[in-house]
Amino acid sequence: MRIEADQVTMMINERTIMENESVVCSPGALTALVGPSGAGKTTLLHVLGLLLRPTSGRVLMDGVDTTNWGAKQRRLFWKHHAAFVLQDYGIIEEESVAFNVTMASSLFRSKVVGDKEKVRKVLSETGLDGRERELAARLSGGEKRRLAIARALYKDAQVIFADEPTASLDEANGDRVIELLQLLAKQGRTVIVATHDEKMMQAAHAMHALKGIRHG
Ligand SMILES: Nc1ncnc2c1ncn2[C@@H]1O[C@H](COP(=O)(O)OP(=O)(O)OP(=O)(O)O)[C@@H](O)[C@H]1O
Ligand SMILES: [Mg+2]
Repeated sequence: MRIEADQVTMMINERTIMENESVVCSPGALTALVGPSGAGKTTLLHVLGLLLRPTSGRVLMDGVDTTNWGAKQRRLFWKHHAAFVLQDYGIIEEESVAFNVTMASSLFRSKVVGDKEKVRKVLSETGLDGRERELAARLSGGEKRRLAIARALYKDAQVIFADEPTASLDEANGDRVIELLQLLAKQGRTVIVATHDEKMMQAAHAMHALKGIRHG
């Protein structure tokens, strides 16, 4: 799926956060949104993922203008096409690791439902082997981040939105995450990351630098 921001301007509380940003994120490519802290990387990622509506400008999905999409259409996009690895991880702390991967539950909390073999595979790919039944709240920050990536892998989403996916990871795990995101792009998915990690940028196929707005 090709996701495009066309002349997006974002104002929050009468303050201009970004002005006329345009970027095309293609399937099969890892696109990095880069820029200094506060430049608007997270905001643009959320706009592209339809989590935030821009003040002006358009977001296009395979050429289709989403400006007038209502809650239902956005929900269908999130449900069927998108996976998010956001800055707060989106981990449901009081549930198990496996629940956080599959988002499917059983009456018996610790029971793994869904495709068990696939759960095993994505946990292994993210270095969380054998931890299906653990409570997510017990995981470290870096482990929660990897769990969010495991969820995205499990979902087979066409579009992956990731906000600073390598932050708070040590080098080996950071490298692993970069490789996984590259693999997802190689499979033909659209991978969009907001990042200030030099290694992540080098691994990207396309880069969009946010100018940032100076406030005097
Ligand atoms: N909900 C909000 N209310 C007010 N200001 C906001 C809101 N969201 C973002 N901003 C402002 O918009 C600007 C861009 O924020 P954003 O989080 O997109 O930056 P960023 O490039 O992701 O920064 P970082 O690298 O620190 O994560 C910041 O100045 C921030 O304060
Ligand atoms: Mg950010």
